Amino acid sequence: MHTTTKPSSAIPVRSPDALPVELTINGERRALDVEPWTSLLDLLREHLHLTGTKKGCDHGQCGACTVLVNGTRINACLALAVSHDGDEITTIEGLAEDGALHPVQQAFVDHDAFQCGYCTPGQICSAVGLLAEGHAQCRDDVREQMSGNLCRCGAYVNIANAVESVRLARRIDTREEDEAHAAHAPHEAHAPHDSHDPHAAPQAQGPHAAQDPHAPHEAQNAQGDAP
Ligand code: FES
Ligand code: FES
Repeated sequence: MHTTTKPSSAIPVRSPDALPVELTINGERRALDVEPWTSLLDLLREHLHLTGTKKGCDHGQCGACTVLVNGTRINACLALAVSHDGDEITTIEGLAEDGALHPVQQAFVDHDAFQCGYCTPGQICSAVGLLAEGHAQCRDDVREQMSGNLCRCGAYVNIANAVESVRLARRIDTREEDEAHAAHAPHEAHAPHDSHDPHAAPQAQGPHAAQDPHAPHEAQNAQGDAP
């Protein structure tokens, strides 16, 4: 009887080209063997089956693959997995905590900020990164700094509404924390009467005084070559 031996698909074959990489993915340390040409996106989707991160263009032009690397948003399709040895990767699957949606995820639900949902994981990861950057000062900033994330369904109005709602809520929380802190601060901490010193430098006035109006928008497109 003639028999043939088929390679078992159940036994992973280690590529002789694979390199050892350690990544922390959604809080879990993973030791992996990765071929040097594997993108971070393919590692997540094809090897680790974290398919929440989407592949749209695979060329850095749509933002569907946005993930957070050490808290910074990047296009995973443009990143080689081996170049992120030791890094912390957060995908859409890693944003919820203890069964509760991340505030940005909840805002997308509340504001109906998606239609087909294909761009949504990238939009949400990008928004989380944007809010952490802290450069957005208004809704237009949100729109501009999210411009690397395309939505073919055109849900941009509600996406901006969702992100802006979280930004405003955090700003109110921060202000209330500052006020509570100031109310409990000991009187000794109050500034001495420096203001009577005619040589004292003039103090900045107004809520926007500390902002540099000429600050470059270097973080406005934190996704490298994304449009
Ligand atoms: S799939 Fe990465 S930017 Fe489009
Ligand atoms: S919701 Fe369909 S592509 Fe954005």
